[in-house]
Amino acid sequence: MAKNDSSQRHRERLLRAARKAMKNAYAPFSKFRVGAALLTSRGEVFAGCNVENSSYGMTNCAERTAIFAAVAKSGPKLKIRAVAVVNDQDAPCSPCGACRQVIYEFGPEATIFFKSSTGWTEALITELLPEGFRLR
Ligand code: THU
Repeated sequence: MAKNDSSQRHRERLLRAARKAMKNAYAPFSKFRVGAALLTSRGEVFAGCNVENSSYGMTNCAERTAIFAAVAKSGPKLKIRAVAVVNDQDAPCSPCGACRQVIYEFGPEATIFFKSSTGWTEALITELLPEGFRLR
């Protein structure tokens, strides 16, 4: 199968999982529900939603929820191939700086699908986060 077909299938699968997870968002403060799903090198998909807090800074973004769920379930050897992000307002929403660094930790070659100001976008994590930090 051509590479494009396979990446389109991955994208659809990730978008479906992200939309499903988005429905569980805890976002009483921003009212902005986000869902994210990631594809691992083993072909598994993990999803997460944003979880806000009365102490706003404790909020966890959907992307990090998905990554932490993946590590908790499958262990520290997680390798992220791709991440998709959706929200309930069809608004531009790329991963925040903190999430970019966390994605980079487990997926330095990952592809990210998100809605930008110009529409659906596919970008490498290294394009979103040049010079990501690595402690090795
Ligand atoms: N948020 C995410 O979950 N992911 C993003 O990529 C951007 C922002 C959440 C955090 C907060 O709960 C809400 O969106 C508004 O910032």
